[in-house]
Amino acid sequence: MFADRVLSGMRPTGGLHLGHYHGVLKNWIELQHQFECLFFVADWHALTTHYDTPEIIEEHVWDMVIDWLAAGVDPAQATLFIQSRVPAHAELHVLLSMITPLGWLERVPSYKDQQEKLVEKELNTYGFLGYPLLQSADILIYRATRVPVGEDQTPHIEFTREIARRFNHVYGKEPGFQEKAEAAIKKLGSRKARLYRDLRNRYQEQGDDEALAAAKSLLDEQQNLSMGDQERLFGYLEGGGKMILSEPEAMLTKASKMPGLDGQKMSKSYNNTITLREDPESVTRKIRTMPTDPARVRRTDPGTPEKCPVWQFHLVYSDEDTKRWAYEGCITAGIGCLDCKQPVIDAILTEQRPMHQRARMYEEEPSLVRNIIADGCERADKLAQETMREVREAMGLDYS
Ligand code: TRP
Ligand code: SF4
Repeated sequence: MFADRVLSGMRPTGGLHLGHYHGVLKNWIELQHQFECLFFVADWHALTTHYDTPEIIEEHVWDMVIDWLAAGVDPAQATLFIQSRVPAHAELHVLLSMITPLGWLERVPSYKDQQEKLVEKELNTYGFLGYPLLQSADILIYRATRVPVGEDQTPHIEFTREIARRFNHVYGKEPGFQEKAEAAIKKLGSRKARLYRDLRNRYQEQGDDEALAAAKSLLDEQQNLSMGDQERLFGYLEGGGKMILSEPEAMLTKASKMPGLDGQKMSKSYNNTITLREDPESVTRKIRTMPTDPARVRRTDPGTPEKCPVWQFHLVYSDEDTKRWAYEGCITAGIGCLDCKQPVIDAILTEQRPMHQRARMYEEEPSLVRNIIADGCERADKLAQETMREVREAMGLDYS
């Protein structure tokens, strides 16, 4: 039940660019080979801030999925879906809202920050305040153990952990918990029951974290325990109640070194991007016209690479030899800026070639993308329903 599962989401608020590729997507592509992965389009999250421009969201949903696929996210490895097509996220959101203190939401830094930053927009809304809780529902509904996100999202993951703890604390306490847990131990069979008790003692008496981890993986392997018993035994290791929701961990994504065309961070709002599927002519033109060290007025003026955004591109794209060639050529005025830019252009075009290739198929046949998402939504919904059954039961909603 608590084997590693990776989940991450992205808001469809604009076309993806090379910054997203180097910062996020390359990471997803590595993870999909190592873990069970779920990646989704957070369209409801986009609505919390873009509620007045739904056309922007609609336009970007499918484009973003094509960008993911073009970059190499593989639907045979990872489950790709759209948040709003798995309505159980909303159900869990509303159920979690019952136990979410307003103060916890108001304290999340992004709430005040964004309100102050986007002054021209009315963000004093219920939906925006609830943004982190909706994110918690996204994560907890799949019992995701690892959530790859950027630094800015760590408060949301921390918030999610608090919500999971609170939920387990409030709803994990069932009458006769201890007897039920003891009965569940017996169901493990005598050898594993002894091992479980032994590991539990080592953890509870000596704080032995390895024993805790070993006990958890022992439970993970049990196929014939009911979900309820498994939750009891997980909870019994650490405390006095069932562990219905599991606490995720943030998996910090290193900040991308990808600069924009002007040397600032690549970002749509700075208008300095190269999009993921930008056509080669446009890439070439953008690099050729991008600014360089202003001190190099004439070809014969030496330059300082550290003052030039092209140099930052070399740091991302070039091997040691090329970097040395560019650096030396710049400070000695041995090469011109257009010479210096050419290997960067070549490297970007090489990086993008397979992306164009993969994208072409999906652009020509949109039904392929629709089917990938339909499959993913179905798979995600199944997983979500497993958790929801437990949650409804714990909250007294499983009427029969
Ligand atoms: N808030 C995230 C962002 O802006 C997007 C997101 C929504 C997300 N739900 C999530 C990320 C769940 C990870 C897990 O980047
Ligand atoms: Fe920039 Fe290269 Fe020109 Fe130097 S030679 S200023 S690093 S583009």
